[in-house]
Amino acid sequence: MLSPGEIEQVNRGTKVLGGDYVYRGLELTVPSGVLVPGGTSEVIFDALHDGLVGVQGASVVVMGCGAGVEPVLARQRGAREIYAMDIHEASVASSLASFERHTGPRDPERHHFLVSDLFSALPPGRRADVILFNPPANPLRSDDPDLTRVNFSGSAIMVSFFDEIASRELLAPGGRVVTVLSNASNLQGITAHALRRGFKPELLRRKTWSAPYDKILTHLLSFTL
Ligand SMILES: C[S@@+](CC[C@H](N)C(=O)[O-])C[C@H]1O[C@@H](n2cnc3c(N)ncnc32)[C@H](O)[C@@H]1O
Repeated sequence: MLSPGEIEQVNRGTKVLGGDYVYRGLELTVPSGVLVPGGTSEVIFDALHDGLVGVQGASVVVMGCGAGVEPVLARQRGAREIYAMDIHEASVASSLASFERHTGPRDPERHHFLVSDLFSALPPGRRADVILFNPPANPLRSDDPDLTRVNFSGSAIMVSFFDEIASRELLAPGGRVVTVLSNASNLQGITAHALRRGFKPELLRRKTWSAPYDKILTHLLSFTL
């Protein structure tokens, strides 16, 4: 795991003051307070885009949807149903705006955009084939509440995330959780907790970065039950 100084350094580029963002021709206007997607975000975007994580016909939960790229890609890749959720109201609104801008009006029966602390707003009985989460699992403290929410919630958020999925049985048979974790978070501790809750991990992709981010090792992980 990186040292606190290194984690602080690699997070200096985090943008929460809004701005324009483009992913493979997909243009987004990101409001202040919402994470402007970065390289880690794109590890999940790429997996959806190139089909490493298939969602055709799937019920998909996008946890922490932020600016809303994942819901757009999920609809474009044929998801049957999408729940885009975030604890931050402006992020949910931003996701819905991006979704309708790029894929047309949402179908209220199939496309749900919910302000939610983890799965609290997910209606009882729902099960997902794919749950995506680029989590704010870095263990530093910040005085900036937006930075804390998008990056620095520590391992606790992943403990609750896996606990809720396991105890509420939120994965459909054969379903999986796809998440991105690096050595800027407590990867071993988080994975150990998932193992204790019965999840089986699989490394889908490893990503390294060029300087000044060359100490970061990022893992795209899949967890099944
Ligand atoms: C690292 S950002 C990822 C945003 C977007 N998915 C991306 O990759 O660019 C983490 C997101 O999780 C949201 N978040 C933080 N705590 C949360 C919670 N308890 N429940 C739901 N969402 C949460 C944040 O508001 C933020 O949008």
